[in-house]
Amino acid sequence: MFEVKIDLKNSGIEQKEIMEYSKTVESIHKELNERADKEDDFVGWLKLPSKYDKEEFNKIKKSAEKIVENSEVLVVIGIGGSYLGARAVIESLTNTFYNMLPYKKRKHPQILYVGNNLSPNYINDLIEIIGDRDFSINVISKSGTTTEPAIAFRIFREMIENKYGIEEAQRRIFVTTDKQRGALKTLADEEGYETFVIPDNIGGRYSVLTAVGLLPIAVAGIDIDKLMEGARVAQYKYEDSKLKYNECYQYAVARNILYKSEKNIEILVNYEPKMHFFTEWWKQLYGESEGKEKKGIFPAGVEFTTDLHSMGQYIQDGRRNLFETVINIKEPNSNILINSDENNLDGLNYLAGKELDYVNKKAMEGTVEAHISGDVPNIMINMQKLNEETIGHLIYFFEKACAVSGMILGVDPFNQPGVEEYKKNMFKLLEKPGYNN
Ligand code: PA5
Repeated sequence: MFEVKIDLKNSGIEQKEIMEYSKTVESIHKELNERADKEDDFVGWLKLPSKYDKEEFNKIKKSAEKIVENSEVLVVIGIGGSYLGARAVIESLTNTFYNMLPYKKRKHPQILYVGNNLSPNYINDLIEIIGDRDFSINVISKSGTTTEPAIAFRIFREMIENKYGIEEAQRRIFVTTDKQRGALKTLADEEGYETFVIPDNIGGRYSVLTAVGLLPIAVAGIDIDKLMEGARVAQYKYEDSKLKYNECYQYAVARNILYKSEKNIEILVNYEPKMHFFTEWWKQLYGESEGKEKKGIFPAGVEFTTDLHSMGQYIQDGRRNLFETVINIKEPNSNILINSDENNLDGLNYLAGKELDYVNKKAMEGTVEAHISGDVPNIMINMQKLNEETIGHLIYFFEKACAVSGMILGVDPFNQPGVEEYKKNMFKLLEKPGYNN
């Protein structure tokens, strides 16, 4: 039921081209497995679904219950890998307008995100939206020193302390960070906040299935046991070192083959707006993992049919350096029947009796065909339904494929040296101590 199946038949790649990578992939497979248990490496995510810390997991559930009981809003502070995963899962698996539902109907706190930009407008608007409602804070930062979340935490800590007083504020602040390093850890220990650990050997963008993602996800009422179960099924499914039987590795190889044939932009395509932030998460995962040493596929994302009316023209007819990876969710969670209309003034009676998802699927089939004929190779990722298990599965699929793909490309998929450049300049301009000319 929560199978994810990859289909390469319209990728323009022959099976034998894929199989030429067998040895390379087997050696990467071996290397990843050897590195998975090392505390001082970044491959801890590989076996996480089958060996996560159960005590920490239960603590996450308990804290989530507490937040649900006493808060109408959870303010999630974090950026990049400390933000996108939680939002991706929450938005994929809740009502599209979750945050706008009346509290009585939602029965879980509104989830609002901050610390992912430096806009005063954004923060002021958020404060206005929270109003005088009860709220808690989950601040997430592995390094504990990232500027955007640090500034946001300073602002919201002051706000929560002013509202509830120091002691109650302490009970409403939840900190997810490194187990011993960083300013946030020091602050949390000093103030006695509840803390959750981001394992040393899991980097930000591979951390959604740790407390980083799981606490906000659980607060939104999503079943984190099922999410982990989906990831666990994926872990076992993609454990096979043989490329022939491992679809996750086939996706990694296919991307590299396309890249070598000058297809250096991959567009992740969705026909489900709920998946918008899943695409954002995917973009960060692949962009930060592979874009280095002047190499890498540029990861882009579109939502169809919306973007067929904006980006569709370029994809069909612009520069031919693109390929598409389409996520096809076979069954929608709900459907709408199109009724017949007596006057048929809109000319839509030819669709009467059909359901809306049928139209969406025909749009997808027609678009795939058009783009293939426009020389845009296509990779399909088919999943039965959108639920906790399939999302857990898909997360693991993309994480593992990303690591393997980066290693085939010859880059380190677990570092992000390029991100430091803007920080150095910004700190110099801000006259941060230690960053003088
Ligand atoms: O994937 C990564 O490592 C980054 O995107 C980080 O998650 C991001 O920079 C935030 O870092 P931190 O969690 O240390 O605040």
